[in-house]
Amino acid sequence: AEGIVIAIDGPSGSGKSSTARGVATERGLRYLDTGAMYRAVTWWMLHHEVDVDDAAAVAAAASRPVVTMGTDPTAPTVRVDGVDVAREIRSREVTASVSAVSAVPRVRERLVALQRAVIAEARRGAPGIVVEGRDITTVVAPDAPVKLYLTASAEARAQRRSREVRTTDIAATQADLARRDLLDSSRAASPLTRTEDSLELETSGLTLDEVVAIVVKLVDEAA
Ligand code: C5P
Repeated sequence: AEGIVIAIDGPSGSGKSSTARGVATERGLRYLDTGAMYRAVTWWMLHHEVDVDDAAAVAAAASRPVVTMGTDPTAPTVRVDGVDVAREIRSREVTASVSAVSAVPRVRERLVALQRAVIAEARRGAPGIVVEGRDITTVVAPDAPVKLYLTASAEARAQRRSREVRTTDIAATQADLARRDLLDSSRAASPLTRTEDSLELETSGLTLDEVVAIVVKLVDEAA
């Protein structure tokens, strides 16, 4: 039998990554953070001095970075041209530029193809995979038997993200999230939206363990 696919979309700070990793760990599934892939390509563009605000220049370079993902949920990895960039992709510079790079259709085409290959591979060799991002339920894996849209209040998301990046400037974090959400949901290519058949989960008042438990139950019901 082929492994199951769990597709999770939602805005930044909604708890997608922690939830996806927790669920995958509990059920022995693989895990794919597609945001890390857009960040890795963005890091490569900055590193090679491509002007990220020049969509034509980004498109022209889109096929050059070689992105490789490790899908163990307890120790996920991301490499570009063989170099581990796990730390670099969380930098302020990458975060500020990733929405511009991810809006370029050539970049998306390439990464979606790669994501589908990772999913196909995981389904052959493992019980399945949890995939999270902005267009997983709409574009990457619209046929997934479990589709979720995670949300949380702007305040809760800013609090969580501030803790992750170890800043005390929650107002600045909230402003950055709002800016990225607007760009990600208003772009022409695969904007962030909730599909009609996705289950919406509002996580503001829930602990991570509670959210993971809810999703694990859905996975067990679908498996
Ligand atoms: O999830 P994370 O905040 O790391 O994603 C970084 C950025 O990558 C998002 O703001 C969005 O611009 C882009 N992204 C995307 N499609 C995905 C995942 C992420 O466009 N499936």
